[in-house]
Amino acid sequence: MIEPVINDRERIHAEELARDGVPIREWWFKDNALLTFLLNASSTTIPEGERFIVRAVEEARGLIVREALIHSADRLIHEETAHACVHDAYNLYLDDIGLPAKRYGTETKKLLLFFEKRCSLEQRLAICAMIEHFTAIFGKQIFDTGILEGEDVDERMDRVWSWHSLEEIEHRSTAIDIYRELGGGYFTRAWTALYASTLFALVHTSCLLGFLASKKVLWKWKTWKAGLPYVFGRKGVYRLFLTDWILFFRPGFHPYDIPIENRLQKQLHHYHIEGDLVQYFPQGR
Ligand SMILES: [Fe+2]
Ligand SMILES: [Fe+2]
Repeated sequence: MIEPVINDRERIHAEELARDGVPIREWWFKDNALLTFLLNASSTTIPEGERFIVRAVEEARGLIVREALIHSADRLIHEETAHACVHDAYNLYLDDIGLPAKRYGTETKKLLLFFEKRCSLEQRLAICAMIEHFTAIFGKQIFDTGILEGEDVDERMDRVWSWHSLEEIEHRSTAIDIYRELGGGYFTRAWTALYASTLFALVHTSCLLGFLASKKVLWKWKTWKAGLPYVFGRKGVYRLFLTDWILFFRPGFHPYDIPIENRLQKQLHHYHIEGDLVQYFPQGR
């Protein structure tokens, strides 16, 4: 059965929750602190990552020759700008509920400005290709496992992450195609990606631990007991993530080499809902 990501049932449910002022549960993802904070920590790093990509692709755009790739670049710029806007609102909501999102967003910004100052356009595009690989394999997991479906996930968050993930899956090859079009080679891509991945992993992990500590659940056995199978189990997020992440280092790698099962057959909508999604995060409640 084909279930569009924007289906009436989910849209109406999410709108009702927002209209009635029902707060998003602190542990909105399967009532699990670890899973919830993993995604919240990802959101914290997203806006600055998106803006880094937009700046690099805007700079590269004038050098692209293929008409179809220019079109893809424009679409990437549009979509990443919308993602940054929705996750900015999401992150303000995190600060509102007592999670130090602003602090970790600032750290991500510092890291990316460091790259921007010291790296050539080729190196920055390699970092973009790595970030896009991250987001595509993240989206693949969301849709291959169907983990966001179910009553134990807030419908508003399901829509935000499904929308973002589907767009990431669809534009997953744009950054690496631009990188190659402009002459980017294997070794720059590999070592830059390795270096950038290590630093991103450190920022993301410190954010996750910081969030858990701020809610005093970092040292609670219950947090880890309930969450670890989702994270490190046989089909855990990190395990699946690592299996796909490493494929980036194959010399001829292309994102389309990774099959996406999309178990629920969620479909991309191609109309703009970012204005609706931002409304899910009213400030100062
Ligand atoms: Fe994005
Ligand atoms: Fe993207």
